[in-house]
Amino acid sequence: MKTVLTGIKPTGKPHFGNYVGVIKPTLKLASDSSDNARTLVFIANYHALNQERDPMKIRDNTYGIAATFLAFGLNPDEVIFYRQSEVPEIFELATILSNLVPKGLMNRSHAYKSAVDRNRQLCEGKDVAENGMDLDAGINMGLYNYPVLMAADILLFQSTTVPVGKDQTQHIEVARDIAGMFNHVYGETLTIPESFIVEDTAEVLGLDGRKMSKSYGNTIPVFEDREVVEKLIMKIKTDSRRPEECKDPEESTVFQLYKEFAEPNKIDEMRHAFQNGEMGHGDSKKLLIEAVNDVLEEPRHNYQELISNRKLIDGFLLSGAENARSIACQTMLNVREYIGV
Ligand code: ADP
Ligand code: TRP
Repeated sequence: MKTVLTGIKPTGKPHFGNYVGVIKPTLKLASDSSDNARTLVFIANYHALNQERDPMKIRDNTYGIAATFLAFGLNPDEVIFYRQSEVPEIFELATILSNLVPKGLMNRSHAYKSAVDRNRQLCEGKDVAENGMDLDAGINMGLYNYPVLMAADILLFQSTTVPVGKDQTQHIEVARDIAGMFNHVYGETLTIPESFIVEDTAEVLGLDGRKMSKSYGNTIPVFEDREVVEKLIMKIKTDSRRPEECKDPEESTVFQLYKEFAEPNKIDEMRHAFQNGEMGHGDSKKLLIEAVNDVLEEPRHNYQELISNRKLIDGFLLSGAENARSIACQTMLNVREYIGV
């Protein structure tokens, strides 16, 4: 059975990178899927705890992400839609898996390594700075274990297909490795998942030309007020070429986004105009704003209705969690049997 699964942490407002890179492809997979397929989408709230300690923010962002998926058309009758925290089997499996995972594998995880690298700069290259600060300062076990928890999220549901952005490639590799370790020790139990990364949108660029990410503060939040979104689009960094100069559309962040929002003939027109020196950056941004406003018109309306109706969202997430648990319990029956508990 094909099982598509993805999750987003409630650490901020969903942005165009999340939408284009993950939300849109996931919903497309869900709508294309046949009888022998299922889709699971969840809010990875326990994953957020390693960086966010404000309960209000976790809660608000959870509803924000849930409302975003629903506003873009997630149908909770067809997609199993839940909060991670409401499926305790995930945490049980994470504990079991952590006993198979070599510590060295976690030492090599990008998220942990980049936290260590930041500390190394603060320690001026030494293992321990003069003030006693060491390379692991400020790094909690939640961050360190993150890849194991993510593997449990995925493997518990025998996921085959995991839509994510490029930055998550290593996490999926780790999940595959961990499934292989379990199967090697205990026998074939867990499905080896594959990432689903759409090449064109694997890394949507942000306002400053780097990857769009909450951690860089360069995002365009999808359901920010229309005027704010328009202002942010006008701020997207461009090169200094004048309108009459020929430009490579593939180098333009505006064009990258336009391809996701405009109609095919409009996309061709912009591509052609860039290549032939008939399009300035300012004009391309205005066209992007038009396309974005067209696509977002209905979802914006839906979002406003949903975000003020937390009870409705809770109802969807609770019944989703029940469905998720019925799959999870099957896997855990096998897993417990195999490990001898
Ligand atoms: P952020 O980097 O802003 O904190 P998240 O870690 O919450 O984003 O990402 C949630 C999902 O969205 C992940 O699957 C991630 O790979 C994807 N994603 C995030 N930013 C981008 C981007 N700029 N382009 C494509 N996908 C992205
Ligand atoms: N790690 C992902 C992120 O940072 C979120 C996530 C948690 C996830 N568990 C997952 C994504 C399982 C896909 C599958 O955005």
